[in-house]
Amino acid sequence: MTNARITLVRDFTLGEVPRRLFGSFVEHMGRCVYTGIFEPGHPEADEKGFRQDVLKLVKELGPTVVRYPGGNFVSGYNWEDGVGPVDKRPRRLDGAWHTVESNAFGLHEFVDWSRLAGTEIMEAVNLGTRGVDAARELVEYSNHPGGTYLSDLRKQNGSAEPFDIKLWCLGNELDGPWQIGHKTAHEYGRLAQEAGKAMRFVDPDIELVAVGSSHSSMPTFGEWEHTVLTHAYDEVDYVSLHAYYQEDDGDVKSFLATAVDMDYFIESVVSTVDAVRAAGKHSKHVNLSFDEWNVWYQRGLDTDDQPHNVSKGWREHPRLIEDAYNVTDAIVVGTLLNSLLRHGDRVKIANQAQLVNVIAPIRSEENGPAWRQSIFWPFARMAELARGQILRASVDSDKYESAKFGDVDVVDVSATWDEDNGRVALFVANRGLDESADVDVSLSGFVGGRVSRAEVLGVPNGKDRFATNTLESGEQVGLSPLAGVTVTGSRLRFTLPALCWAVIEVEVTRA
Ligand code: AHR
Repeated sequence: MTNARITLVRDFTLGEVPRRLFGSFVEHMGRCVYTGIFEPGHPEADEKGFRQDVLKLVKELGPTVVRYPGGNFVSGYNWEDGVGPVDKRPRRLDGAWHTVESNAFGLHEFVDWSRLAGTEIMEAVNLGTRGVDAARELVEYSNHPGGTYLSDLRKQNGSAEPFDIKLWCLGNELDGPWQIGHKTAHEYGRLAQEAGKAMRFVDPDIELVAVGSSHSSMPTFGEWEHTVLTHAYDEVDYVSLHAYYQEDDGDVKSFLATAVDMDYFIESVVSTVDAVRAAGKHSKHVNLSFDEWNVWYQRGLDTDDQPHNVSKGWREHPRLIEDAYNVTDAIVVGTLLNSLLRHGDRVKIANQAQLVNVIAPIRSEENGPAWRQSIFWPFARMAELARGQILRASVDSDKYESAKFGDVDVVDVSATWDEDNGRVALFVANRGLDESADVDVSLSGFVGGRVSRAEVLGVPNGKDRFATNTLESGEQVGLSPLAGVTVTGSRLRFTLPALCWAVIEVEVTRA
């Protein structure tokens, strides 16, 4: 048995939970759009082709904002191809994923789908093959009320009202040599500055995200952010971060500790951003948008069903990176969400990549069913319950040794206090592979009451940590009740089984 003591203090908060932390991502990649959210002719599709079975799971997952249309895809995309009569839209080669894009789904379809899903739109512009002009025109088409060529074209294409898109990404991963239109930091910094300026001339109320590093081990990491922001600090509101993690060579202890890397990445970018702020004598703060993150087994990128395999020729919506997630992956996802929430004073947007089929919490089959992967659950519960104030948690946990990150806390936690509904929620992982963990929480400044939620995701009976939810297996990894949670005054106690993620929500009053 390992032990952890956690102290939460009512007035020791980090600020309001940024609800945009629970974002997701829909890219024209593989089967995320086609046969994912959109499949005309599917028995569950509505008259617009939106799969209602998938939509139901999306609503249950609860993303607040969805980034679109890429990803690497956007760096070669003409937004004009995706508007207007569907039968007139051009079929194009998408070099990023070596696929044929039919353009049957485009901006209007995404706006309609987002309204049904109840999600905010985060639209990315192409700063790979295109530039200032296409970016500002897309803002005019989307947000200008009418009376100009582009806004009237939107009306003619079926939307009398502007889309009113607030959140815009100034390109995608342009620091990466794999990106179409890859740029140096100077080239991109100037382009982001000018594109941002021109987009704001059209709509001054938009919020802009500059491309940051594609991961923290990029050779240009640090310098990229510094140079880009030195050019574009005044024009942008956020700088982006992307990170994908996987279990390497059976090193599960390091994999379970990857939130340490996310902490490092976030804190390094905050320092860089603030250094530019000081050097440039800027008064405003630029915040962080962690707009791609997840577990992704990139080791298999050269196998048959992987994106850069060109031997199969040009295909339409092939199966690409449809990772099947196991119990360990779900626990890691829970700890990554904890890291994001613990940095919610500066990370204001985050998007799990992606939403359906492509490294996704939701899977669907063409002409077949849709289901939840293991990683669905930490996201769904945190999106539902992390509301109100982020509580700073002081954690005194037993540690374990990991090859990549040294000594790591066995128990990982984040917590929130929603004064409106009088509840404290704890999101907690036991990274211990073999031992259960006794957790003792001091709720200082609160008097605890009823336990309104206590659920745990762990290894299902008779299975191991590699259990997944597949079409064949059904949903065998999910949540079950966590028994034995006790509240006495300001003290909350529970025991976590080995290797699990759990959510505990308690009714509280002020002490
Ligand atoms: O999410 C999959 C891909 O990962 C995105 O297209 C790209 O931005 C990142 O490299």
